[in-house]
Amino acid sequence: MTIPFIDLAAQQARIKPQIDAAIARVLAHGGYVMGPEVRTFESQLAAFAGAKHALSCANGTEALALPLMAWGIGPGDAVFCPSFTFAATGEVIPWLGAAPVFVDVLEDTYNLDPAKLEAAITAILAEGRLKPKAIIAVDLFGQPADYPAIAAIAKRHGLKLIADSAQGFGCTLDGKHPGAWADVVTTSFFPAKPLGCYGDGGAVLTDDAWLAERIDSLRVHGKAVASDIEGATLAHDPKYLNMRVGINSRLDTLQAAILIEKLAIFADEIEKREVVARRYAEGLAGSGARTPTVIDGGVSTWAQYTIEHDDRDGLAAHLKTQGVPSAAYYPMPMHRQDCYAIYPQPGGLPVTEAKAGRVLSLPMHPYLDEATQDLIIAAVRSFNG
Ligand SMILES: Cc1ncc(COP(=O)(O)O)c(C=O)c1O
Repeated sequence: MTIPFIDLAAQQARIKPQIDAAIARVLAHGGYVMGPEVRTFESQLAAFAGAKHALSCANGTEALALPLMAWGIGPGDAVFCPSFTFAATGEVIPWLGAAPVFVDVLEDTYNLDPAKLEAAITAILAEGRLKPKAIIAVDLFGQPADYPAIAAIAKRHGLKLIADSAQGFGCTLDGKHPGAWADVVTTSFFPAKPLGCYGDGGAVLTDDAWLAERIDSLRVHGKAVASDIEGATLAHDPKYLNMRVGINSRLDTLQAAILIEKLAIFADEIEKREVVARRYAEGLAGSGARTPTVIDGGVSTWAQYTIEHDDRDGLAAHLKTQGVPSAAYYPMPMHRQDCYAIYPQPGGLPVTEAKAGRVLSLPMHPYLDEATQDLIIAAVRSFNG
């Protein structure tokens, strides 16, 4: 038997008739781009996360770029973000000519360290070369960043705050979604994400009506939106009025239709992931591996179940011999990649450096049965590295 790292087939088996019917409906109406399911999904997604507006887009990377574009972030601007993350978080910043400023993470949760964030902002201001504009906090491995502390810093310095919740969409802190603190929450529907589709997809959620309208325009080539043409008499279709330089970043109707069915079971799946995580923590106690710590008051979506070990690579090799897949996220943090090493990293990133060599993610999904999980736990425990 091969143990899947993420079992999308088990999820599909649960909702196959609903998915088939949803796909058939789209094939029947033929509205493949911006069809009715897109708006339906967006309103359901907004309701799920308690946001006023949800705008779907082509992927979680462009979901990050769209608010930066809307705010006019560009050359000479600094955007603070962790280095211990998937490359997309920092990648979108140089797209716009701005500079990512890499900030270290907390030792226990791997999310942005508020004290180091404050110090990095102070250092960039003192240097005077770049103008601080925004912060991108990441909900790494599924758990919320320390939003109350980060939002207070953002407010103090007049910075915008994006929650990159590609891994953590659905997570909460003190019962609230990251949007309770962040100006914008972004997510990815990449298939392996906790809420994934069957291809690429993403979304931006915000309570800010101005920003939502701007993003609605930017995702369709800067098309004219209501506020652009209020009171104007137009000689032609406003669809072909490009008010700003935009991009093409739309969620396919087929993916929206699939996501409607997946969102219907998402809350239940988050609960199931929590049960799996608790069992891992119990089963791995005293194993020599450090099990994850979740921020006080936080509920993780457990995009990854990530342990730490002194001999991470030895453990990974041992698990492989036992038929247990594992993955190291992220062995080479962003600031160590040649193309990003040129950007500021005030104060250095010692925690990021250390964690990159220690973390290992184990199979995690809502349908991990107890017998399979026991095999995984036994495989970790049998490592004597
Ligand atoms: C933290 C983080 N941000 C952004 C992204 C980008 O999402 P996508 O692959 O949909 O572009 C991902 C996932 O791939 C991610 O893990």
